[in-house]
Amino acid sequence: MFTLVPIRDVAPAAIETLLDAVFGHDRHDRTAYRLRAGVQPVAALSWAAIEGQELVGSIQCWPVAHIGDRGECRAMILVGPIAVSPARQHLGIGRALTRRAIDEAATVCGGDALMLIGDPDYYGRFFGFTAHRTARWRLPGPFDPARLLALGDGVPDASGVIAPAPPDLPSAAACS
Ligand SMILES: CC(C)(COP(=O)(O)OP(=O)(O)OC[C@H]1O[C@@H](n2cnc3c(N)ncnc32)[C@H](O)[C@@H]1OP(=O)(O)O)[C@@H](O)C(=O)NCCC(=O)NCCS
Repeated sequence: MFTLVPIRDVAPAAIETLLDAVFGHDRHDRTAYRLRAGVQPVAALSWAAIEGQELVGSIQCWPVAHIGDRGECRAMILVGPIAVSPARQHLGIGRALTRRAIDEAATVCGGDALMLIGDPDYYGRFFGFTAHRTARWRLPGPFDPARLLALGDGVPDASGVIAPAPPDLPSAAACS
């Protein structure tokens, strides 16, 4: 049976090894990684799943912003990467990690506007993420519009750029 612990309790190198195993060494080229440039993960929303001493899954969430074409700036949270060890997939670990992050999101700035790039068949089916409000968003790299998903009452249905949270936006910690 797995247990969820704050990700800070796990060695960062172990998280990186897990992410390499799940997403490959070229994962840093992905558009989602460009949204994480220069910002730190939100501690309250970043968790690890462990079985005994073994790391079997992780989720990290990041402060980003929707910068509307009329200049308005809206704090949001980028959910993921969510990774489960290949040997431990389909046992509920991914669902537990994602549910924990969603449940904790109300405590942080931007937590009413979650986004991710991922499989709608998974993130829609289990958590209610949809692409209904993301069609007019622009990202700093290629992406499949059907996989640009969002969840929450604060998700902006407006034209704009998604970017790493600018320094003058209230930090997730300060906003809790
Ligand atoms: C995607 C991932 C996070 C899911 O976590 P998990 O612990 O393996 O899955 P869970 O036990 O929470 O959920 C299992 C259910 O989700 C479904 N599922 C798993 N991955 C899926 C996917 N990519 N798309 C659609 N459904 C998926 C399974 O079929 C299963 O459904 P069932 O209960 O009807 O049989 C994990 O498998 C993973 O890290 N995969 C590698 C990365 C990846 O493929 N990412 C794609 C999503 S961005």
